[in-house]
Amino acid sequence: MIEIRRLQLRDLTAIETIERSAYPTPWSRSMFAGELSKPSSVCLGAFEDEVLVGYLITSRYVDAWHVMNVAVVPDRQRRGIASALLGRLFELTASDDRRGYTLEVRVSNAGAIALYEGLGFEQRGIRRGYYTDNREDALIMWRDPAVRDSVAG
Ligand SMILES: CC(C)(COP(=O)(O)OP(=O)(O)OC[C@H]1O[C@@H](n2cnc3c(N)ncnc32)[C@H](O)[C@@H]1OP(=O)(O)O)[C@@H](O)C(=O)NCCC(=O)NCCS
Repeated sequence: MIEIRRLQLRDLTAIETIERSAYPTPWSRSMFAGELSKPSSVCLGAFEDEVLVGYLITSRYVDAWHVMNVAVVPDRQRRGIASALLGRLFELTASDDRRGYTLEVRVSNAGAIALYEGLGFEQRGIRRGYYTDNREDALIMWRDPAVRDSVAG
């Protein structure tokens, strides 16, 4: 049974463990602490029997919700956890008709790109050499404001 709720500073150690297993250039603890401390950010955790198994960090910018980080522990992937985290973000921000959603993803990260496309994100551009470890390009993805879904649908 997966429960999604807002992350708290006490989750930082569990976040760090997952982050290190998920990325070649992991965020530092202080980067997470900074996001968790901002009232405007939406930072969600997925908990299975009270154990953190995934998280989503989203910053509110002037024109968009910027999805900064999504990760799920390797042995819990492909069970809909990242989809559930993003779905909760869309629910929590559904009344915001001014901001869409944007993110960058490595062009080689086919699994994540498939996840985002399945949730309505579209490819909108490339940032050349965005990732400092291997100078890989970033794909810029964008999803329209949640409120327009119901208008369109
Ligand atoms: C990307 C990531 C967050 C996906 O989390 P997840 O909980 O496994 O994703 P979901 O189970 O919600 O996947 C939903 C759909 O996305 C697509 N998808 C997700 N991971 C995929 C993969 N590795 N390969 C192909 N498709 C994938 C599939 O269509 C999947 O549906 P399906 O399982 O019914 O086929 C996870 O693989 C991860 O933590 N990766 C390492 C960190 C990372 O790359 N984060 C994204 C950086 S931008």
